[in-house]
Formats: sequence, structure tokens, C-alpha cells
Amino acid sequence: MTAYRIATIPGDGIGVDVTAEAVRVLDAVLPGIAWTEFDWSCEQYLRTGAMMPSDGPHQLAGFDAILLGAVGFPGVPDHISLWGLLIPLRRAFGQYVNLRPVRLLPGTTSALRGRTAEDLDILIVRENSEGEYSDIGGKHNPGRPDEFVLQQSVFTRVGCERIIRYAFDRARERCRTLCSATKSNGLIHSMPYWDSIVEEIAADYPDITVRHMHIDALAAEIVLHPDRLDVIVGSNLFGDILSDLAAAVTGGLGLAPSGNIDPTRTAPSMFEAVHGSAPDIAGQGIANPVAQILAGAMMLDQLGEKAAATAVDRAVCDVLDKGATLTPDLGGTATTSDLGNAIADRAAELVAST
Ligand code: NAI
Ligand code: MG
Repeated sequence: MTAYRIATIPGDGIGVDVTAEAVRVLDAVLPGIAWTEFDWSCEQYLRTGAMMPSDGPHQLAGFDAILLGAVGFPGVPDHISLWGLLIPLRRAFGQYVNLRPVRLLPGTTSALRGRTAEDLDILIVRENSEGEYSDIGGKHNPGRPDEFVLQQSVFTRVGCERIIRYAFDRARERCRTLCSATKSNGLIHSMPYWDSIVEEIAADYPDITVRHMHIDALAAEIVLHPDRLDVIVGSNLFGDILSDLAAAVTGGLGLAPSGNIDPTRTAPSMFEAVHGSAPDIAGQGIANPVAQILAGAMMLDQLGEKAAATAVDRAVCDVLDKGATLTPDLGGTATTSDLGNAIADRAAELVAST
């Protein structure tokens, strides 16, 4: 068996609790992973003035993958915590895909009336390296009546082509439909450009049905007709917003995993929950660890450990379906580690029986 070297960055708030549970579950299905923990966080920022050391990416480069909790805590502005760790790592490692599968898991109910698992199974492919999340811009004439800020978006041909092609490939593996998030009626440079690249690439995928939807209409579609959606591709900002919305209409943020992926496999990919550090429930031991555990399953899948990944996924489904050990967000009274332990036990059983 390959001995993987995995870096963990538990980060802040509930990131710490849920990462511990993901490690527990992964150890149960694939013994022998060599874990190395990095204590980069807002606490570290307050102590040292930096979220991570300046050679942070270099320290992580040799690992097979990274499991990240969440960063962000009151007292440190969010743009400092995210731009001090998360965004630089995504960019340093060429993780240009942010993959966010959203589905209705057994034993959970959708916030949408009458919707079942068949209706709610969406793969959001979010651009993860450019777009609206750019540091180009600035504040001008500060303190004067004519004060203003500029925030540039960046849409490169290479950046658009590679994420859109990746989404078409995923659509080919799934239902052969792709919905592209646009807003070409409002953003008159970036979005018509994005749309034109979708059309160019569509010519190579005649078997895929493509829809362009304005982001506002698409948000409504997720709520009203999620069954009409399968793979969605969106820019950095649009993909980010849609994935919280899609997670919320399924079982909530506590269930939604994500992967920051370098499809070229040159650098480690980084897996995390969609949710943040949830300061409102931090330190209470009640965060739902499922999103982070499923992020761990995505990591196993990406490492090629398909059987172990499937065992984790099935264990999550079985435990949720049984309904005996649920955290408060799912209507239960279990703690984070109660649920983590139940999933780890079930995953170990599944592995032993194969
Ligand atoms: P959040 O996702 O942390 O929380 C939103 C709401 O969902 C809260 O009410 C929270 O209690 C609930 N929630 C989230 N995850 C949950 C879980 N596993 N179990 C039960 N309930 C859960 O988003 P928010 O409040 O906007 O951000 C909090 C901090 O996290 C900020 O500093 C933000 O910048 C940061 N953040 C970090 C991310 C990352 O590291 N990738 C991603 C998103 C936010
Ligand atoms: Mg987000």
C-alpha cells in the first residue's frame, strides 16, 4: 500500500474540530497515512503578523494532498485571513478547479418542499484562480469627498478555457448537460467573453447540451427546478455564491464538501468543506463534521484510493440514514465527535467486509 503524506491545516473555529473527525475517519479506512499538522490560523496571525510563513507553499509542496479546515475569526478581517492563506495556496499550487458536489444525502431533508435525492444532485465547477477574486485595484483619494475604490476582474483565455473544458469533461461523465453561469447583460466585458469561450469549446462536445443562464435566474432555478440542473460551471464569484445556495437547499452547509484541484497533478490538491469557521458555534463541539469527512473522501478519490473513498461515502450515508447520531443542525443532539466516531466505525466495518 502506498503510504501517503498528507498535510492538515485545521485553521480556525470549527475547522479544527471537523478536521480531527475527517482524520479519524480516513485513518479507519486507510491505515498508515502520515499526517503532518500545520497550525496556520488567525491565532498565528495575531501572534506573528502572518497567517502562514512566507515559505508556506514551499513547506507544503512535497505533500500528496492537503486537508484544510477553515480560516477566519472575529478580530482578523476576512480579507486578511483568506488572502493570507487560502487564496495564495490555491494559486501557488495551480488549483484552478474548485469542485463542489451538492446532493441530498439519505436521512436529511431538503429545505425545498417535496424534493428527493433524484432532484438534487448537482456538480458545481467553480473557477478558482482568477475572475472577480483579484487583488488588482485600490482605494483612491482616501478621506476626500471624491473617494472611490476600484476592483478589477481578470478573465484570461487560458483560465476560462481550462475550467470550461474541465466542466465539459465532467458533464460527459454525468448527464451530458452543462449550465454555464453568466451575467452578460450586466458585466458587458467579462461575461460575453466567458460565454464566447463556452460556445467555442461546446463545438468539441456535440454530445453535451449547453445552457447559458444569468446568475440571478440560475439562483432561482436552483430553488425552483434543481432537477433541471446537473453540472454547473461558473466564475470564481458566481461558483462561490451558487455553492452555498445549493448546499443550503440540500441538507445545509454542514454537508457540503469541496476540492481545490490541480488537474495536472503537478502540485498537491487541497480539500475542505464549503463552510467556513462558523465562529457562532465554535468551541461548542456541535459542528457537523460530514462536509469535512466527505472532503476527505474526495481527497482519497483524487489519490486513486477509490475503494476507501467509496467506503467513507457509504458510511456517511448509512449513519445519516440511520438517524441515531445527528448533530444539532440536522435535528439531533450528537456532538461533532459522536458523529465522527459513528462514521469511522461504520467505515471500518465496510472496509473489513470487502
Ligand atoms: P460559515 O460557513 O462559517 O457559517 C455560516 C452559518 O452556517 C453559521 O450559522 C454556521 O454556524 C453554520 N455552519 C457552517 N458550517 C457548519 C457545520 N459544519 N455544522 C453546523 N453549522 C455550520 O460562514 P460565515 O459565517 O460567513 O464565515 C465565518 C468565517 O469563516 C469568516 O471569517 C469567513 O471569512 C470564513 N470562511 C472561510 C472559508 C474557508 O476557509 N474556506 C470559507 C467560508 C468562510
Ligand atoms: Mg464560499
